[in-house]
Amino acid sequence: MSHTQDRVPLKARKVSFSWEGTPLHWVPGDPFTSHTINVLHLLLPAGERWFVHVYKQVLPYIRDERLREDVLGFIGQEAMHSQAHDEVLPHLRELGLDPTPYTAQVDWLFEKLLGDRTLPPGAARRWWLMERVALIAAIEHYTAFLGDWVLNASELDRRGADPTMLDLLRWHGAEEVEHRSVAFDLFQHVDGNYRRRARTWATAFTALVFLWQRGARFFMENDPTLLDGRARLRDFHRAGRRGTLPATGAMLRSIPTYLARGYHPSQEGSTEQAVAYLAASPAALAAEQAQKETA
Ligand SMILES: [Fe+2]
Ligand SMILES: [Fe+2]
Repeated sequence: MSHTQDRVPLKARKVSFSWEGTPLHWVPGDPFTSHTINVLHLLLPAGERWFVHVYKQVLPYIRDERLREDVLGFIGQEAMHSQAHDEVLPHLRELGLDPTPYTAQVDWLFEKLLGDRTLPPGAARRWWLMERVALIAAIEHYTAFLGDWVLNASELDRRGADPTMLDLLRWHGAEEVEHRSVAFDLFQHVDGNYRRRARTWATAFTALVFLWQRGARFFMENDPTLLDGRARLRDFHRAGRRGTLPATGAMLRSIPTYLARGYHPSQEGSTEQAVAYLAASPAALAAEQAQKETA
């Protein structure tokens, strides 16, 4: 399948959210689902800042003008995502749930463990850069998966989920779907080694599962409104069956998809659906309106 057929020029869209009205359990009566999704606000600010940091270093290796433009668009979008999720954290703090103990660890992971390391210029430095580019491609497989999921997660609407939070998730998810091919194309362009793709997938997947379950447990245990808050695997499976979280089966099926030799991210998700959501996103429209008023 050609992966250029639905290419759209990538641009960072400004957004404006106001969180005052969003409750802690923004999926009514369902703290587990609310907090499992809230883990995004813990991981994405540092994670997406790290994407931007790594991609700025890889720019000199790009020999294709169009890919370069895509990477620059990707950088703009991820910087905006990181900031938008970061802005939810003070609101959680106001609601009695201080995320600092967890985010401090996530910051350490991305800035120190996955940071630049003191390597001599040359092969070692290049190796570490390519490892990180491959890791980002693997993570983006999951951000696109989640983006596609949330755009279609009508069960959240049916259950009366908070519209502002849904809009944040869908605006972000739609841009993830829109730019889903960039990280993979970049990896193929600068390296493309299959063993590296498989190895970094294993690292990314293990880290995501570990961080996610710890994050959900952290929120459930520290939620001031819950007496005995716990995050159990069976709650996750149950929410997947209900449609308020991704289904376990779909997540497992996405593994061989990424590891297939002929994989390309354009094979999944709909650019058309993503672009249509972005044209109607209340937060994007609010930012546009604010810009017009100040102009
Ligand atoms: Fe993002
Ligand atoms: Fe992304």
